[in-house]
Amino acid sequence: MTTYQILAIPGDGIGREVIPAALGVLLATGLPLDLREAEAGWECFQHHGASLPDATLEAARASDAVLFGAVASPSHPVPGYRSPIVALRRALDLYANIRPVAGRAPDGRAIDMVVVRENTEGLYAGRERVEDGGDTAITERVITRRASERIVRAAFDLARGRGAAPGRPPRVTVVHKANVLRETCGLFRRAALEVAAAYPDIICDELLVDTCALQLVQRPERFDVIVTTNLFGDILSDVACYWGGGLGLATSANIGERATLFEPVHGAAPDIAGRGVANPLAAIGCAALLLRQLGQSELAARVEAAAQQVRAEGPHTPDLGGHATTTQVAQAVIDAL
Ligand code: NAI
Ligand code: MG
Repeated sequence: MTTYQILAIPGDGIGREVIPAALGVLLATGLPLDLREAEAGWECFQHHGASLPDATLEAARASDAVLFGAVASPSHPVPGYRSPIVALRRALDLYANIRPVAGRAPDGRAIDMVVVRENTEGLYAGRERVEDGGDTAITERVITRRASERIVRAAFDLARGRGAAPGRPPRVTVVHKANVLRETCGLFRRAALEVAAAYPDIICDELLVDTCALQLVQRPERFDVIVTTNLFGDILSDVACYWGGGLGLATSANIGERATLFEPVHGAAPDIAGRGVANPLAAIGCAALLLRQLGQSELAARVEAAAQQVRAEGPHTPDLGGHATTTQVAQAVIDAL
């Protein structure tokens, strides 16, 4: 059997609680794993002067897949500090950020959608500067035809692979703000509609980002695959994840040609960090996505079923209304496995 090389980057805050929990579940599957750990994040920056040390980047490049926790990036500018997860996505060219959401609307209708977010450019391209002695701040939004085409292709391929669901044909919704951002969103939209022409079997529609935000709240069941630019995808996927039970359950895959990284959507959660009550189910869901990416679909399905059982029957962490700890929930998943 192949031994897979997995790199864990717990990061900061509850990343250090949920990643060990998810690794415990991964190990319990019995799959031969060569597990390594590397540092990144705010504490790492304070110790080593780098939020993403070269050694971490090299270890990520050498691994079959990365499991990432969360990092606590300060909101005030700190000289030399850059968000390591944004840097990792760009350095590893993890161009597709895939965030699945499954749940039920209040009226019982099934919600099953995936937000596909461009992960390497847009407003997160890192082109920021100040002028006017600091009184004017400018961020450049970078959109390229190449990145737009490949993310939209990834979305259509995903929609094709998912197929139809009862009452919902395969559909890709292209989300933009081309009425205002005429150049950047205009290019993204044009590239998307051109790619769509190669997928006549899949419905393609488009929504302005603000309309999409409202529809994610009012009519979540209408969506199948949403494809959009970096910042819009970041925000919309947090809205969408409400329907899957909130941040404690939301998973994401960062996919590139040569590397993959899996991370819960949530952050470092400083308000609960260190108390051992973070919900590990998002990180465990990421472990399942990682298994599927390695070609271990059967093990992935078993982990998902075990996590689903714990989600349904408990024990639950406080975010889901329970009193259980991170460790107790992870152990319950292992027992269900
Ligand atoms: P957050 O996701 O860390 O927390 C938002 C709220 O959800 C908090 O009340 C938190 O307690 C709760 N929450 C999140 N995950 C949970 C879990 N697994 N179980 C139970 N409750 C959970 O977002 P916030 O507060 O906006 O950001 C905190 C820090 O995290 C910031 O420094 C931010 O930069 C960073 N962050 C990092 C991300 C990443 O590493 N990919 C993503 C989002 C934020
Ligand atoms: Mg986010």
